[in-house]
Amino acid sequence: MTYSCIACGYRSAKWMGFCPQCRASEGLVQISDKPSRPLRTSPGPIPLAKAGGATVARVAVGMGEIDRVLGGGFVPGAVVLLGGEPGVGKSTLALQVAGALAAGGSKVLIATAEESAEQVGLRAERLEIDGNEIFLLAEADIDDILGAADQLRPDLLIIDSIQTVIAAEVGTAPGSVTQVRECAARVMRYAKDSGTAAILVGHVTKDGGIAGPKTLEHMVDVVLYLEGESESGLRGLRSLKNRFGATHLMGFFEMAHEGLREVADPSAAFLADWRGAVPGTLAFPTVEGRRPVLVEVQALAAPTTVPQPRRSVRGVEPSRVHQMLAILDRHAGLSFADQEVYVNVVGGLRLTEPATDLPVALALASSRLDRPLGPLAAWGEVGLTGELRAVAHETRRVEEAARLGIPTSVAPHKGTRLGIREALDLALPGWQEQLEPRR
Ligand code: TYD
Ligand code: MG
Repeated sequence: MTYSCIACGYRSAKWMGFCPQCRASEGLVQISDKPSRPLRTSPGPIPLAKAGGATVARVAVGMGEIDRVLGGGFVPGAVVLLGGEPGVGKSTLALQVAGALAAGGSKVLIATAEESAEQVGLRAERLEIDGNEIFLLAEADIDDILGAADQLRPDLLIIDSIQTVIAAEVGTAPGSVTQVRECAARVMRYAKDSGTAAILVGHVTKDGGIAGPKTLEHMVDVVLYLEGESESGLRGLRSLKNRFGATHLMGFFEMAHEGLREVADPSAAFLADWRGAVPGTLAFPTVEGRRPVLVEVQALAAPTTVPQPRRSVRGVEPSRVHQMLAILDRHAGLSFADQEVYVNVVGGLRLTEPATDLPVALALASSRLDRPLGPLAAWGEVGLTGELRAVAHETRRVEEAARLGIPTSVAPHKGTRLGIREALDLALPGWQEQLEPRR
C-alpha cells in the first residue's frame, strides 16, 4: 500500500498525520498499488541497433493542422494530453479528431465524464460527424472505462476530462492531484499494454491551473495545448512535448458554427483588424517550430497618480515586460513610474520566444510617446544593458512580414552591436526630443 497527500500528491510508504512536503495537515490517504491490468512481460535487454527498427507507425488523422502538430498522426499506444482553458474548444477538437479518424476506418471510444451522451450526440450532429465507428460511454470510473475499452478495442480512447474521472480506491475528490495522476497512470498502462492511443482532455485555468494537467506533463507522451481567446474565433494548438516528434509546432484553427476550421493563413487572420498607424502597436513575426506567424503586439501607457501603477499583461511573460520597462527607463530615459501599463498579444496567442522583447519595448515606447510606429515589424532579444541580440530565423521573419505587406522591420543582425536607443532612433526618429527633463 502507498499513501499520498491530497494537496500535493506526495507519496510515502507509511501513513503520516501531515504531509512532510507541503505541510498540509489532513494526513495522507491510502491509494492502491495494484495495477489495473497485469503488466506486459518485459522482452529483456535488446541490442540498441535493433531497437529503432522501422520508423514509428502512425495513424494520420486526416486534419492537416492536427497531423502537423502530432508529427504525422497518432502513434499507437501514445497518450496525448490535450490541455486548455474551459470553453476554448477541447471537447470540440477531440470530437472532430474522433470523426476524422472514424472516417478513415478507425474505431474510437469517447468516455465522457463531464457531459452526458446526449450532449455529445447533439454536438456530433451539429458537426455532422458520422458516429458509426465512434462509441460513447458516459462514465466516471476509470476502471469501468478501461474495462469497456478492453472489450471494444478502439484505436483511440478519448477521456473528457481527466479531472472528472475517478479511481474508486483513491479516497479523494475527482480533480485532486492524487486522482488525476492515478487515473492518468492507469490510462498510460492500458495504452502501452493494448496499443490503443489515448487523448486525455485537461482543463487549465488562466493562472496555470492547480491540481491540473500540469502534473501529468512528465508522464504522458505528447502534450498539446489549445489556446486562444473565447471571444475571438482563432485558436492555436501547440505541442509542448512529443516523444515521437518535434515540439513547439503549432496548428491554427478558427471556431466557427460547424466546429474548428483549419486556418491556412494564420498571419492574415491575426492581423485582420490591425490598424498599423496608431500609437502602441506593431507586428511581430514569431516563429513556432519552423513556421513564421505574424501577430500584433499592443501596449498602452496611461498616466495615473496612484503610488503603485497597474501593470497588466496578456500573452507574454509579465517578468519580461517588467524588464523592458526597467530597460527603457534606465537606458533610454523613458519612465513609466507614473503610468499604468497594459501589454496584450492580439488573438490570445502566448509568446515565449526571447525575440518578443523588442516588439514589447517598442510598443511601450510608442504608446508612452503617443507616436505611431507606422506599419512596422520588429523582433529581437533585449539584454539588461540595453543591448539588442539577434535571434534565429531572420529570413523567415523578414519574408513573412513582407508577404503581409509590411515593408519595414527593426531587428538586430548578428554582430551589429546595437542598443535599445538605436532601435528607438530607427522606429521613432527624434524620440529623444520628446523626453521631459528628469526631476
Ligand atoms: P468546447 O469544445 O465545449 O470547449 P472545452 O471542451 O474546451 O471546454 O467548446 C467551447 C465553445 O465553442 C462553446 O462555448 C461553444 C463553441 N462552439 C462553437 O462556436 N461552434 C461549434 O461548432 C461548437 C461545437 C462549439
Ligand atoms: Mg469540454
